[in-house]
Amino acid sequence: MKKLNLIVLASGGGTNLQAIIDNIEAGKLNAQIKAVISNNSKAGALERARNHNIPAIHLSHKQFVTPEEFDEKLLSILRENETDLVILAGYMKILSPTVIRQYKNRILNIHPALLPSFGGASMYGIHVHEAVINSGVKVTGVTVHLVDEVYDHGAIIVQKCVPVLNDDTPETLQQRVLPHEHELYSKAIQLLAEGKVEIKENKAYIRE
Ligand code: GAR
Repeated sequence: MKKLNLIVLASGGGTNLQAIIDNIEAGKLNAQIKAVISNNSKAGALERARNHNIPAIHLSHKQFVTPEEFDEKLLSILRENETDLVILAGYMKILSPTVIRQYKNRILNIHPALLPSFGGASMYGIHVHEAVINSGVKVTGVTVHLVDEVYDHGAIIVQKCVPVLNDDTPETLQQRVLPHEHELYSKAIQLLAEGKVEIKENKAYIRE
């Protein structure tokens, strides 16, 4: 089984990144994180990377004159690190079609709800949980999916349900969903590492 080279892109605190680091260090995940990239120089995710001697790179569109130059830099980092999988872990920027096409079926995202419900450009972080509570649904959950050119649309690799309780607030729900994200993201990466995921017509089939 090939050890996967991962590049993690994250904008925030990086608890999903941390779970992946912990699972790799515990020998539960056959992968190595070659670098963590953030658009936000103050992201906790960069700090977490440094704490584990993983290269931490601040890369923002603001550092470049054109979006194409940003893409070139990002793609060069991905190439130099012989990246097998790009892991979006709370990355609040949209990747360009150029990057997505070059890494087709090799970019994963985690979403804190059951897609295709509660997805879309305005659905990130706490906003997702607010929308879930406001809708009155009784179950929510976690989705790990491949990234394609349509937002929150690519093939779903794994999902997990989490009940919505009567007295939940967006914050309590977020806190209850998060540990499931941590577990599910590594599970999805490991399934890919083991070659157990087959993609056909925008659907993922798990062959255990
Ligand atoms: C996670 O809950 C992740 O699912 C969400 O951002 C959070 C990042 O937390 N992503 C989205 O909402 C994407 N639409 P973290 O920085 O602690 O991993």
